[in-house]
Amino acid sequence: MAKWDNVTVVEHPLIQERLTLARDRHTGVAQFRKLLEQIATLMAFEITRDYPTIAVEVETPLGPCQGVRLAQRITVVPILRAGLGMADGVLQIIPEARVGHCGAYRDIESLTPVVYYKKLPPDIARTDVIIVDPMLATGGSICEVVSTVREARAERIKILCLVASPEGIAAVNRGHPEVRIYTAAVDDRLNQKGYIIPGLGDAGDRLYGTA
Ligand code: PRP
Ligand code: URA
Repeated sequence: MAKWDNVTVVEHPLIQERLTLARDRHTGVAQFRKLLEQIATLMAFEITRDYPTIAVEVETPLGPCQGVRLAQRITVVPILRAGLGMADGVLQIIPEARVGHCGAYRDIESLTPVVYYKKLPPDIARTDVIIVDPMLATGGSICEVVSTVREARAERIKILCLVASPEGIAAVNRGHPEVRIYTAAVDDRLNQKGYIIPGLGDAGDRLYGTA
C-alpha cells in the first residue's frame, strides 16, 4: 500500500488475525488488553528493522565471535491512556528501552488535543523514539505529542499505531513529514465524532473497562 507518504502497513497474518479479534465488539477487556500487547510486540520487529547497529566482538565458550549491538538507545513514548497497552508489548522485546510518558486527551466537543502530562528521559535527544498509541484518528493527539518530543530535541521519531484513518495520516504528513507511521490497518474514514470507521471503538475504554 504505497498510497500514503511515510506509512508502513504491517500486513503479517498473525498481526491481522489479532487485529480482527481486537476489533470484535464481543472481545472483553482481558483479551483486548492481551491482543494489544501481542500486536505491539509483533510490530516492534518491523519498526526497528532499519535501526543501525555497531560491530562488537564477544567471546563464546569456544572463542571470539563478531556480532552487533544497537547503535542508539530506544525511548518508547506511550500516549496515555491507550498507548500504555501497546508500550508493554514493545518492552517485551526491547526491555532496556527508556519510557517517556505523555498524557493527551481529545476535548469531546472540539476534538482538540490537550497534553496534560509529560515526563521524558533527559537524554531523549540521543535516542530513537517510538511514539505508541493504538488510534490515529484526526491525528491531533499524535501530532501534539510529536511536537512535544521534538521540543525535547529528539529527531529520530517513529509512530506505532494499530488503526489509522486517512485523515490522521494526512495530518501527520502535513505537520511532521519526516515521521514514519507504522500501522496494522488504514481504515475507511472518521465519523462525525472523530471515531475511526470501522475501527475498534474507544481504545482506552476497551483497554480499561471504562465504557
Ligand atoms: C484516543 C486515542 C488517541 C486519540 C486519537 O485517546 O488513544 O490518543 O484518541 O484521536 P485523535 O487522533 O483524533 O487525536 P483519548 O483521547 O480517547 O484518551 P484516552 O486514551 O485517555 O481514552
Ligand atoms: N480514539 C479512539 O479510541 N478510537 C477512535 O476511533 C478514535 C479516537
